[in-house]
Amino acid sequence: MGRISAGRLDGRAFGAAMALAVTAWPAAAVEISYASGVVGTAMESFREKVRVWEEATGNAVNFVPMPASTSDQFGQYRLWLAAGNADIDLYQTDIIWAAQLADQFVDLSEPAAEIAAASFPAIIESQTVDGRLVALPLYTDAPALYYRADLLEKYGAGVPQTWEELTGTAARIQEAERAAGNGDFWGFVWQGNAYEGLSCNALEWIASSGGGHVVEPDGTVSVNNPAAVEALERAAAWVGTISPPGVLAYQEEEARGVWQTGNALFMRNWPYAYALGNGPDSPIKDLFGVAPLPAGGSDDGGPAATLGGWNVAVSKYSRHQEAAISLALYLAGPEAQKAGALGEAHLPTLAALYDDPEIAAAQPIVPRWKEIFQQAVPRPSAPTKGAYNEVSAKFWSAVHETLSGQGSAAENLELLELDLGDLKGRGW
Ligand code: GLC
Repeated sequence: MGRISAGRLDGRAFGAAMALAVTAWPAAAVEISYASGVVGTAMESFREKVRVWEEATGNAVNFVPMPASTSDQFGQYRLWLAAGNADIDLYQTDIIWAAQLADQFVDLSEPAAEIAAASFPAIIESQTVDGRLVALPLYTDAPALYYRADLLEKYGAGVPQTWEELTGTAARIQEAERAAGNGDFWGFVWQGNAYEGLSCNALEWIASSGGGHVVEPDGTVSVNNPAAVEALERAAAWVGTISPPGVLAYQEEEARGVWQTGNALFMRNWPYAYALGNGPDSPIKDLFGVAPLPAGGSDDGGPAATLGGWNVAVSKYSRHQEAAISLALYLAGPEAQKAGALGEAHLPTLAALYDDPEIAAAQPIVPRWKEIFQQAVPRPSAPTKGAYNEVSAKFWSAVHETLSGQGSAAENLELLELDLGDLKGRGW
């Protein structure tokens, strides 16, 4: 049974209501600033989408490009918001930030009631803090194992079901491809930089091995356990063997760079890489497939995908709140979500779009990934509340040290457990 399900809304009635809401806006034109990280073609796609709203309202949108790393964005936004910055009207926010930034954002539950009712309830819940809807979902995210179908076929290998199988297949085909003349070829690329993306990868290794969720829903620190130790040791052994030593500095785009030039057999990445990998100039267009990430292989762990996703929040300090709310509603609404699904393979949060035949034809990963994101594993941002960023930073640091050979997995997880216990104190 899925963890995330949703109510329905008639797409056409909704679209008509939105069109009215947008065109009925007062004529006084304002310039709205929208801050967002830039990954892949995010900026171009945003500009294209937002033109419809600009034309309908007469307002203009200034896109404020931010670094690709969600951790870097969070650090900057936290500073700006603490200083009451009125220059940014809207922020594109990661699913994990809601509790930490809630006080600085406008409650959207009333204006967005219709959107909320048409969305997957668990996603709306993830953005609701003390009864306030602090951000509207733009798209959800759940990673895939990307594989080169042509090379698996060439070497008679199957899509790996376990991490052990992945390790074996990657080593064998990497060796053969190098022997055939491609010295730059690697078995597996992923996100090993010390940032939030590594917390996502490591949560998958651990959860899929029966090692829990770092901090459990009831707030218990669970990360120091034998299955987690084993999962990190297995990943550490990839570095410099089936994964380039540089993987320790990779974020999403660096992994995609190696993969999309044709120099990797497997990649862990989010659905946006599906759209780009099949782009007109992509050397691997039509040569790859996607599958759920592998499982740990023991009876304790099935495959685990970390739940990601992006939202839009209106700053409490915005001087153009009405226009900012109108833009947030447009971006979270069916027209903009459909454009994101068609162009960027973004997974909609409006349930009805999973039955849209145009989306299924343009980006088949979207309907296929509905089940994956519904089963996805949340990071412990709900139980750790305002401390999540610190929890995650300690987690990714312990993992990064283990991957770099600074201390064993057992030592680093023992220290992490103590650190997280200190941070928790008497409760999160
Ligand atoms: C993706 C996810 C986001 C996650 C990030 C980590 O953008 O949607 O939730 O935090 O990757 O790099």
